[in-house]
Amino acid sequence: MTPSGILCARDVPLWEDAKAFLDVRNNDEHTLVAYGLARALLAEIPEAEESVVLPAILLHDVGWKRIPPDLLLDAIGRRPTRRDLVRDHEIFGVEIAREILERHHPAGVDIAAVLAIIDGHDTTNEARSIDDAVMKDADKGWRCTPHGMRIIAGWYGWSRAELIDMLETVSNPRMLTPAGRALAEGLTAAVKAELLLPHYLDVDIDA
Ligand SMILES: [Fe+2]
Ligand SMILES: [Fe+2]
Repeated sequence: MTPSGILCARDVPLWEDAKAFLDVRNNDEHTLVAYGLARALLAEIPEAEESVVLPAILLHDVGWKRIPPDLLLDAIGRRPTRRDLVRDHEIFGVEIAREILERHHPAGVDIAAVLAIIDGHDTTNEARSIDDAVMKDADKGWRCTPHGMRIIAGWYGWSRAELIDMLETVSNPRMLTPAGRALAEGLTAAVKAELLLPHYLDVDIDA
């Protein structure tokens, strides 16, 4: 499938510009997978506004490009030592996203509303609006996807059991919408069940 199969036509030009800012820490891949989750959540949550949520998820992490690459993994994870960089990537992200959005002025997109969600997407935990909640759930829900688990395990050298523990204790309880929580808990439960198959069956799994 080509990226246009994931992205709606309105957002393709935004993606083309955003790509140059997303080639750090797997953010390009993360963005596309999270965008796919956002579309799935929007189908379940009709009161959310897709013209805000989708451009916001597409552009939310462009600010990481301005953070020194060797510091990226210090900003996140179980015991981050540079939480200040998380705030920095939001501020830079608003600047970069504003440039991209104002260059294209996509039809029907409230640029101020998109930027308001990008600003604070990681440093606020609560749902500031239903659009904010859907965007945050798509972003955090990515961690529970096969792609997210593979990437995160690679960053930190975690086993799948360690990852599942992080998801169950830290990440999933913070999901904000019923649909987002079901998505995160369902994906996590499925991977956990796979991990436990050898307790019940004479099978080997790749843990
Ligand atoms: Fe972020
Ligand atoms: Fe993100």
